[in-house]
Amino acid sequence: MNNTWSVYIQGTQTLYLTRRLRFHDLFREQYRPHFALDEAKPLRILEIGCGPGALAGALHRWYPKAEIVGIDRDTEFIRFAQEHEPGVTFVEGDATALPFPDGSFDVTISNTVSEHIEPSRFYAEQLRVLKPGGVCLVLSARRGLHAGAACLEASEAEKTFWERFMREDDSNERFAVCQYPLSEAELPLTMARHGFAQISSAFALIDLTPDHPRFPADVARDMIEAGRQTALEALNTARRLSPELAMEDVIGSFTAETNERFDRRLALYEQGEKQWDTAVSITQIVRGVKAEVK
Ligand SMILES: C[S@@+](CC[C@H](N)C(=O)[O-])C[C@H]1O[C@@H](n2cnc3c(N)ncnc32)[C@H](O)[C@@H]1O
Repeated sequence: MNNTWSVYIQGTQTLYLTRRLRFHDLFREQYRPHFALDEAKPLRILEIGCGPGALAGALHRWYPKAEIVGIDRDTEFIRFAQEHEPGVTFVEGDATALPFPDGSFDVTISNTVSEHIEPSRFYAEQLRVLKPGGVCLVLSARRGLHAGAACLEASEAEKTFWERFMREDDSNERFAVCQYPLSEAELPLTMARHGFAQISSAFALIDLTPDHPRFPADVARDMIEAGRQTALEALNTARRLSPELAMEDVIGSFTAETNERFDRRLALYEQGEKQWDTAVSITQIVRGVKAEVK
């Protein structure tokens, strides 16, 4: 049983909700041309570090002929994914010791995982389980753009709390998170250095602006709720990581204020009072091919 990630780094519900938006069918064409997979074939696709399963679920919808398998070492993520993404097989396990035979997948894919695993171990296992000619897809989040609504601005007390918390927080080192970050240029070079050929690199731009009329109301509400979940989860995680700084009563009052702010944002949306708050995420998609045996 390993729940470190879901308890201390990113909560299950928040990760699922935010990724379900990022991999919503509305954005499918931001990704699919860069994945460049043969949709006519019954591909076997392995998602490494699948978390609660939102990308695996999207792959199941986008490639109906494919068999999708997701693997993650967090027990709670796998339990949640099995419950919420029918049609996908989810397995608990380690990306550096994949429990699959050599040459058993046509595609490996991962989203925001490569920066957490030492590259030679990350790529060696994917190279091993891929068939000759198989495709490795590495998705990596890049600096996006964020503009909050005035009604969502935190109080001075909460801002001061976060400044202090960030100064003292050592959870990335404590839980070995993001120990192998690579720039936009280094990521494709690293994939090539670890045995892949025909490398390409492209970017998907996902624009989450609830007030834009192109988004149906249920999607717009999900965008606002994803913001609420993220903010509430950050407070909960702070309490778990540092109970002496993030005391029960302090977190309790910030939680109530956060809910009030997001209730107000939702009410403005329902009234049609546009705020134009936005979150634009940029995902780098690096693609490489395992050489055919001569
Ligand atoms: C930033 S999260 C991304 C989760 C998911 N890909 C998504 O986008 O929602 C990183 C994930 O990698 C998983 N992970 C990190 N190291 C791993 C390893 N060695 N083996 C399996 N999973 C790992 C974590 O448990 C976590 O679910």
